[in-house]
Amino acid sequence: MAFLLIGARGQLGTDLLSKNRELFLPWTSDEINLLNLQELEKKLESLPCEGIINCAAYNKTELAEEETLLAYTINGHAVGVMAKVAHGRNIPLFHVSTDYVFDGKKETPYQEGDLTAPLSIYGASKALGESLALSLHPGAYVLRTASLYGLQGSREKKGNFVDSIVQKGEKSDPIRVIDDIWMSPTATSDLADMILKMIEDKTAPGLYHAVNSGEASWFTFAQEIGKKMGFFDRIEPVSKSVFPSKIRRPTYSVLSNEKLAKKIPLRPWQEALTDYLSKKFLVCEKY
Ligand SMILES: NC(=O)c1ccc[n+]([C@@H]2O[C@H](COP(=O)([O-])OP(=O)(O)OC[C@H]3O[C@@H](n4cnc5c(N)ncnc54)[C@H](OP(=O)(O)O)[C@@H]3O)[C@@H](O)[C@H]2O)c1
Repeated sequence: MAFLLIGARGQLGTDLLSKNRELFLPWTSDEINLLNLQELEKKLESLPCEGIINCAAYNKTELAEEETLLAYTINGHAVGVMAKVAHGRNIPLFHVSTDYVFDGKKETPYQEGDLTAPLSIYGASKALGESLALSLHPGAYVLRTASLYGLQGSREKKGNFVDSIVQKGEKSDPIRVIDDIWMSPTATSDLADMILKMIEDKTAPGLYHAVNSGEASWFTFAQEIGKKMGFFDRIEPVSKSVFPSKIRRPTYSVLSNEKLAKKIPLRPWQEALTDYLSKKFLVCEKY
């Protein structure tokens, strides 16, 4: 039997699928609309599968402030349905969440036990999904991740940060990047490996921070891209006030991955980035 992969066409879903096609039964929004909770429950109850992995999300962080119902239904209540059915069928549920459940007031990496305090509707809707998954199903895995980039690019956000910096690098203008927001850049390929390893090892269920090791500001992340792609000198640090956002974002949302790292190897974000760039672009290593 296979694992049902919900959100199989997304950035993370695509990487998971490409790593082990036989393990997954892929569902896109053509197979299931997560806004239809009754249909979701019915389909999940009757489908033969040995576990559920949910990579689908309402990911449009700014638009979520207006499309509140969509965000809460897809990121929250649909996850509750998945957890309820998975519990009833005694199969695991893997659900992916976000660093945006935190308010960013800490100055050291967030641990799994830290209290959530989302600043946005997106963050609040994902926090709801987390708590429904964990409260309705003792066999649920909630994997908080952050600042994802993968070959496919985010379906909902139409791309990712790395690709957009590389595109800017192809022109001759200075590249201004925010230097006062800190996070944990993570490759979807590495996150997919983490999920596969957790399945293989039968890691205990619960809440985990599933990110590459280390931390970066968007500026230092862009610098690392520039080093590898030959436009390091054109990257300039700016304050977040230069690029006003419609939503409040955590200023410091670095996730500590110590808990998961005790169980499976997690590599530094710089190594994951190098792999990504060499797969997607011609890396010229100019410093
Ligand atoms: N991207 C990031 O930087 C980031 C950061 C932190 C956490 N996360 C979390 O990581 C997970 C994976 O993110 P990602 O970047 O891989 O996402 P993504 O590429 O944007 O893909 C999201 C998927 O959700 C599916 N979806 C959206 N609305 C749906 C609906 N009503 N019914 C069924 N499916 C629906 C879409 O399916 P179709 O394509 O089939 O329409 C899409 O493929 C998500 O839980 C996200 O919240 C992402």
